[in-house]
Amino acid sequence: MNILVTGGAGYIGSVLCEELVREGYQVVVLDSLSRGHRAAVVPEAVFVQCDLGNRPTLEGVFQSHVIETVMHLAADTSVEQSMVEPGRFFSNNVTCGINLLECMVKYKVKRIIFSSSAAVYGQPKELPVTENHATNPVNTYGESKLMFERVLFWYGQAYGISSISLRYFNVAGASNRFGQDHRPVTMLIPNVVRVASGQAEYIPIFGTDYDTRDGTCIRDYIHVIDIAHAHILALNYLRKNKTHKVYNLGNGEGYSVKEVVEAARRITGATIPVKTYPRRSGDPAQLVASSKLAELEIGWKPQRPELDDIIESAWQWQKEYPHGYNGE
Ligand code: UFG
Repeated sequence: MNILVTGGAGYIGSVLCEELVREGYQVVVLDSLSRGHRAAVVPEAVFVQCDLGNRPTLEGVFQSHVIETVMHLAADTSVEQSMVEPGRFFSNNVTCGINLLECMVKYKVKRIIFSSSAAVYGQPKELPVTENHATNPVNTYGESKLMFERVLFWYGQAYGISSISLRYFNVAGASNRFGQDHRPVTMLIPNVVRVASGQAEYIPIFGTDYDTRDGTCIRDYIHVIDIAHAHILALNYLRKNKTHKVYNLGNGEGYSVKEVVEAARRITGATIPVKTYPRRSGDPAQLVASSKLAELEIGWKPQRPELDDIIESAWQWQKEYPHGYNGE
């Protein structure tokens, strides 16, 4: 019995597969390598290079391997890009996901864990955000994630497929082997460690006039290894329960952009110059999770909640791979 991980060559997928293998699971990684990296695929896994839009190859994977559960991480994730190329996001994040579900129906695979996002909430009205908070995405990316959550609900109704959607907040940090190598680098923590290592000159701070304690945006940063563990707990839960669930995954603690930069200066010993820019469109002022439901129902409690630990792990990875996996 195998766990099929789509997007297993990506940032979160690579760390997830590492943890699955450590726990003794057999893993099949499916990745188009359009943004993932072959070097990020854990060597113990079976690797198939495949775009989820390619139905014959996808079916081949289900034919050749008995799949117990699917963990579906493959997606387009850039919020900015999602606003200029909505079709690509709906196609890759919804239509391709439906392809995957159709294969699951055909090959009688009954469980799926889906990488959803805090982006489904849009601009939160109450903090911390619980799963009952209204979902009003403010970008195509968040909309595509919410749409697929709904698709999962209906596949549950029609075919008895059980699903858990995990709404990640701001995933950051690295394991000893795998980290974030997205190009271009747009996210805050990968960017600060890049500047610290001299790969970039300064951190642009997008907006200093938010209604927050220091005027910059507040986010809930969560260690990528804690995210990986949540998948394994969700898998245990799905094995025992026929269900359709949605859980937030965050630490419940928010840090501002300036606080992240300050922490990174302390950890790396680098100056990390900053430049102030206008607000980035679509950025909510604050995004902080309540993950009580995940704790209560699947027993998830972050083991590495300290921001310093998260940044330190990203920093170590940056030093190990200053130019990413491909040395570029
Ligand atoms: N920021 C900067 N400078 C940078 C990078 C980011 O000031 O160089 C700011 C952003 O404006 C934002 C905060 O730092 O206020 C965090 O930005 P990130 O790009 O690191 O992350 P986002 O909160 O924009 O989005 C991330 C993922 C989304 C996901 C969301 C969920 O990219 O996919 O977290 O919380 F939906």
